[in-house]
Amino acid sequence: MIEFDAVKYKQMVKEHHENDEPFSWCDSIYTDAKGDYKAVFWSDLQASPYLVKWLEENKQDAKNKKAIVIGCGVGDDAEALSDYGYEVIAFDISNEAIRLCKNRYPNTKVNYLVANLFDYKESWLENFDLVYECNTIQILPGEYRNKARKAISNLLCKNAHILVSCRSRKKNEKQDEIPLPLDFEEINNFVTKDALTEISFKAYDDSQIPSVPHFFAVYKK
Ligand SMILES: C[S@@+](CC[C@H](N)C(=O)[O-])C[C@H]1O[C@@H](n2cnc3c(N)ncnc32)[C@H](O)[C@@H]1O
Repeated sequence: MIEFDAVKYKQMVKEHHENDEPFSWCDSIYTDAKGDYKAVFWSDLQASPYLVKWLEENKQDAKNKKAIVIGCGVGDDAEALSDYGYEVIAFDISNEAIRLCKNRYPNTKVNYLVANLFDYKESWLENFDLVYECNTIQILPGEYRNKARKAISNLLCKNAHILVSCRSRKKNEKQDEIPLPLDFEEINNFVTKDALTEISFKAYDDSQIPSVPHFFAVYKK
């Protein structure tokens, strides 16, 4: 079992941020897991219960619909979308994350791809009925957070939904935290800056001890 050293991790990410390398470190989290997806410390190893609840409540809408998962990690959320009938692309900047997904789900229908949120194919623009974002924006620093949100919003076709799951914080709280949770104004930029409509918004504390505050939001284009 690989011991996760939080202090070393935060220092490593901080150094990358200072060198304006906002995500080149991500692959190391997966390579450190040495081929074992269970050893990836940020993975819950189950689909988000809020995503699954939404999928269950909206299952009549999934047929012939295209979904995309941002920074898909080890694939649990992508597989849930596929199980509910979506045609799914799940991408991550990390080669090793995508290799782990393909090994973990050899018979998957999900199209797992290495891709960069900041440099994806033009054909992806306004091409998806459902976009799922969980905890990618929070690992990015400064202006990359706005650029990421915009790049995510640009994937939605007309009438598409985006589901955003993230850790949360109060405004001006924990400003040096790594990763930095989203405050309400930041997540609400999907509405105020990208002109999406809020369908539902939930702020909740998860079941960890001590519990961690989260947002789960659904917006529509
Ligand atoms: C905190 S992890 C969350 C992973 C997964 N969504 C989950 O909830 O378990 C953030 C993910 O975003 C990926 N990522 C970071 N920057 C990215 C980028 N520019 N393009 C695509 N993926 C990126 C990382 O490799 C990592 O897998």
